[in-house]
Amino acid sequence: MELDRLQLRYCIVSFLIVATMFSCTEAYDPLDPTGNITIKWDIVSWTPDGYVATVTMNNFQMYRHIMSPGWTVGWTWAKKEVIWSMVGAQTTEQGDCSKFKGNVPHCCKKTPTVVDLLPGVPYNQQIANCCKGGVVASYGQDPSAAVSAFQVSVGQAGTSNKTVKVPTNFTLLGPGPGYTCGPAKIVPSTTFLTPDRRRKTQALMTWNVTCTYSQFLASKNPSCCVSFSSFYNETITPCPKCACGCQNKNCIKSDSKLLSVAGVNTPRKDNAPLLQCTNHMCPIRVHWHVKLNYKEYWRVKIAITNFNYRLNYTQWTLVAQHPNLNNVTEVFSFDYKPLVPYQSINDTGMFFGMKYFNDLLMEAGPAGNVQSEVLLQKDQDTFTLKKGWAFPRKVYFNGDECMLPSPDLYPHLPNSAPPVSARIALQSSFAATAIFLVLFIFFL
Ligand SMILES: *[C@@H]1O[C@H](CO)[C@@H](O)[C@H](O)[C@H]1NC(C)=O
Ligand SMILES: *[C@@H]1O[C@H](CO)[C@@H](O)[C@H](O)[C@H]1NC(C)=O
Ligand SMILES: *[C@@H]1O[C@H](CO)[C@@H](O)[C@H](O)[C@H]1NC(C)=O
Ligand SMILES: *[C@@H]1O[C@H](CO)[C@@H](O)[C@H](O)[C@H]1NC(C)=O
Ligand SMILES: *[C@@H]1O[C@H](CO)[C@@H](O)[C@H](O)[C@H]1NC(C)=O
Ligand SMILES: *[C@@H]1O[C@H](CO)[C@@H](O)[C@H](O)[C@H]1NC(C)=O
Ligand SMILES: *[C@@H]1O[C@H](CO)[C@@H](O)[C@H](O)[C@H]1NC(C)=O
Ligand SMILES: *[C@@H]1O[C@H](CO)[C@@H](O)[C@H](O)[C@H]1NC(C)=O
Repeated sequence: MELDRLQLRYCIVSFLIVATMFSCTEAYDPLDPTGNITIKWDIVSWTPDGYVATVTMNNFQMYRHIMSPGWTVGWTWAKKEVIWSMVGAQTTEQGDCSKFKGNVPHCCKKTPTVVDLLPGVPYNQQIANCCKGGVVASYGQDPSAAVSAFQVSVGQAGTSNKTVKVPTNFTLLGPGPGYTCGPAKIVPSTTFLTPDRRRKTQALMTWNVTCTYSQFLASKNPSCCVSFSSFYNETITPCPKCACGCQNKNCIKSDSKLLSVAGVNTPRKDNAPLLQCTNHMCPIRVHWHVKLNYKEYWRVKIAITNFNYRLNYTQWTLVAQHPNLNNVTEVFSFDYKPLVPYQSINDTGMFFGMKYFNDLLMEAGPAGNVQSEVLLQKDQDTFTLKKGWAFPRKVYFNGDECMLPSPDLYPHLPNSAPPVSARIALQSSFAATAIFLVLFIFFL
């Protein structure tokens, strides 16, 4: 009996250790726990030697979009399939089609690599939701633009739902690394509604692939940092030094003459950044300023600054976690949307630019910033300027978590102790542990 309990305890402890290790490397985002990109293949017709499939990518991530230069999808054929033709996308390489006489396939590679077409291609090469240069909005920002699609005609494949073999080893770049795709799973066939909504049709066979994002896989350094200031203390708490890594990084001073050389802003093929020299060496800095304290409200100013001379951020998103976001009264000059990943806790929200006004965060330089002010209604029981309470617990830019300053450096009220933010970190890791524990007990 005693032994059993001991064993159980040992088991729980080792499980927790494994679970904690997993939570660092495995794709799991506590602020968007169900976020994923789903790639769905619907076979819409059989052909003499294969099938035609509509491939749809849905971005179900609340605040992580795919920016220009867009997605790249790849897979490995299970048999000797070839791609006869594609609509709304293309493979980057044809491969060796020398075995074919007469009709030559679009691609004969065992592992094709597919990219979207650019906007403005002829109509006969388009299908619905294609041809956006691989750019896909995040679901929270614009659900109608969070989808991308193309059609593929496959030969030397099975011609019935018994003989078709699903492709394996799916890969997704969006546009950089970070996504891991699971195996294709045959799922109940999709039903489609005709445009007049009076008739339903059905795919002949459907399979889904789910891809999830891990910042850890995307890059070993953060890509943004946060700085703080307040009306009650003159000190500006800067981004941590080398927050985004200082090694092997070139930079250019903001007053450098090189900046007037033509072509300095031209993006590179490999998207290598050209950063302005800063102590943090991040392409993005988010500044959170506690601006005013009224009787029933308080006001925060948020500014995002771009330090990359070679990149404009389109459709950027900013996510913040703060206990008072349950009572946002007004957000000036950004759009705002509460995110409620766990139904009971309303402490997270996403900010994004207003269309045609500030949804483009320009390259580094005088125009390379966007800003907003947020008015929050106080809950008199919890509101305080002490212990750094007025600063966010977490900040994400474009779906990547930003590095916060060390808690002992937060601006603090005259004559008050520095904040104990270790407590916050403890809380969130405790929450994660609790979830794993619940799961664990569930599986027992
Ligand atoms: C993918 O995201 C959707 C929408 O959030 C969710 O319903 C689904 O369960 C997710 N799939 C997986 C495998 O996590
Ligand atoms: C397959 O993916 C689609 C979205 O592309 C989703 O609506 C559907 O629920 C998924 N099916 C399963 C069984 O996960
Ligand atoms: C294949 O099609 C038959 C009918 O044509 C259907 O009964 C069966 O469920 C299908 N199997 C799969 C795996 O979709
Ligand atoms: C899947 O892809 C990885 C990396 O591209 C490769 O190492 C592996 O051999 C592939 N597996 C199969 C079954 O093709
Ligand atoms: C950013 O956008 C502006 C205006 O559209 C354009 O002039 C500039 O070349 C772009 N910069 C980069 C780095 O793409
Ligand atoms: C969360 O808070 C926002 C205000 O910041 C409010 O508009 C929204 O209704 C709240 N959502 C829930 C589920 O409580
Ligand atoms: C917002 O704050 C007011 C005042 O403290 C409070 O009555 C109200 O319940 C709060 N709303 C939410 C969603 O917490
Ligand atoms: C302002 O905050 C800094 C950093 O926490 C602290 O060192 C300093 O003493 C504060 N200033 C005043 C006037 O309290």
